Formats: sequence, C-alpha cells, structure tokens
Amino acid sequence: MDHQHAHHHAGHAGHAGHAGHADHASDSSVADILDLDAEVVGSYLEELTAWARAHTTVAPRTILDVGAGTGTGTWALASRFEAAEVIAIDQSPVMLDRLQAAAAARGLTGRLRTVRADLDAGWPPIGTADLAWASSSLHHLADPDRVLADLHTALNPGGLLVVVEMDAMPRFLPEDVHPGLEERCRAAGARNGWNAWPDWTGHLERAGFTVAEERVFAIDVRPAPPAAGRYAHRVMSGMRDRLAEHLSAADLAALDRLLDPADEEFVLRRGDLVVRGARTAWAARRA
Ligand SMILES: C[S@@+](CC[C@H](N)C(=O)[O-])C[C@H]1O[C@@H](n2cnc3c(N)ncnc32)[C@H](O)[C@@H]1O
Repeated sequence: MDHQHAHHHAGHAGHAGHAGHADHASDSSVADILDLDAEVVGSYLEELTAWARAHTTVAPRTILDVGAGTGTGTWALASRFEAAEVIAIDQSPVMLDRLQAAAAARGLTGRLRTVRADLDAGWPPIGTADLAWASSSLHHLADPDRVLADLHTALNPGGLLVVVEMDAMPRFLPEDVHPGLEERCRAAGARNGWNAWPDWTGHLERAGFTVAEERVFAIDVRPAPPAAGRYAHRVMSGMRDRLAEHLSAADLAALDRLLDPADEEFVLRRGDLVVRGARTAWAARRA
C-alpha cells in the first residue's frame, strides 16, 4: 500500500485510496499500525460485533472481511460467530501473510480463507455469504459504489453488510496536557483530507441495501494499555511530519517535546495516557 493508505492510522496523507499497489515496506509499516490499533483500542469490537449480531436475521455461516488488513475484524468476527467460516479479502500479500500467521497462532486456520484480490479490478469469485464486514476499507476504493453493488449480489437474501469507519485518529493526552493540541491536529488533518469518508447511507441505499441502523461507537480506554505509548508515538510523528505547514509554531513545539526522548514529556515514557476515539458503523441489509 502506498503512503496514502496509512493515513487514518499513521497520520499520513489523506483519502485518495485508489492508489493501486504498494510496496512491501509501507505495507509492513501500515500493518504494524493496524496491529497496534487492535491492541490498544480493539475492545470496542466486542460491542460492535454484538451489535452486528443483533442485526443478523440468520446465524451466518460465511462471513466476508473486505479489506481485512492484518485481521483485526477477522478475529472479532470469528469469535462472535463461532460456527462461521471467514473469508478475508485483501490486495496486499503482506497483510494476508500476517493474517495467515496470526490465524495459525490462534488455531483458526480451519475457519479462515484468504483471498488476494484488488477489488478495484473486479469482484473475486468467492461465492455467497451471509454477513460482510468492511472496516476502514471502503474509502480506499476507486469505485466503492461498484464494490457495494458486488457485495449486495454476493450476500444471500437477508444478509447483512456492516461498514465501519474511524471517526478520526485516536487521542492520547489527558485533558490538561497541551489542551486542544490533538483537536487542532485532527482539524488540520481533516482540512487536508485525512481519513475522508462519505456518509455511506446514500451509497448503501443506491446499491440496493436497506440501512437498518447507523451508530457511533465511542472508544475510551483508561488506563491506557502498555502499547498506547507506541501508538501515540506513531500518530504524533505522522502529524509532525505531514502537518508541519498547517500547525502553529507553538503546536509544533509541543509535538517536538512529546517526541523527544530527552524531554520529560516524551510520549513513550508517559504513564498518564488515555485513549479516546470513535467508530461510525452502518448495518445494512439485503432485502
Ligand atoms: C486501513 S486498512 C483496514 C484493515 C482492517 N479492515 C482493519 O480495520 O484493521 C485498509 C485495508 O484495505 C486494503 N485495500 C485497500 N484497497 C484495496 C483494494 N483495492 N482491494 C483490496 N483491498 C484493498 C488494504 O490493503 C488494507 O489492508
């Protein structure tokens, strides 16, 4: 994946996803961030998959994880729907290799199929499914409406599509540390098109889905897990590198302190981090 794909986790450049392919090093870098994201904020997936299950009308036997990455959603779905096979689709061999290795470690290989496919090039021949899940992936596609139509066809009648997007990069600083810094960074990122995704409701309806519910899942993890410092470091470094022209000198100086190993504020040494974020999810049904 090219640098643009890294945006919403790493603070890299914004939307524009359909960038074709991608080199191994940057895919690995994004894969690291996806794994950090799962480790640090992944607890929201319990609630999200429970919500998804409440919206299913049949117990899913086959689940598609569309743009599965390193498998954050794959594992959450496999544990929520214990009888289902999960088909993880991604264009990146780096992601799929990691996902396979993790499946083996989790003893899930028997319930997992991986399919390498560039969805911009067409829908792969994978048969039908009862549930599809697309987390932080639809907005990467060149023509998400075509893929939504293909997903609609791929779902069995009554099948459910769950679309998930990250509202913004997570925040890590307690309220009294550099007040407003992270909000200003997020606003600057948004102005520069970082992590841009549309309201999927109209797109889902045009593809033939009925939107059963759209919901925001708040994330607030305190105390922060041990990996939060590393995640914060990745996010803040990305902001420092890529938003330098869009932040005030004072905000850049604050980021420099947080990123300086010699400074007492260094983010990897802090014990006071709190993780806050949100996901928006759509539950859409095929009639
Ligand atoms: C931000 S990651 C999200 C990964 C995972 N769903 C998660 O929530 O952690 C987006 C994923 O979509 C994949 N992707 C992007 N464009 C794609 C395309 N055209 N075809 C297939 N996969 C694609 C990327 O390789 C990447 O693994």
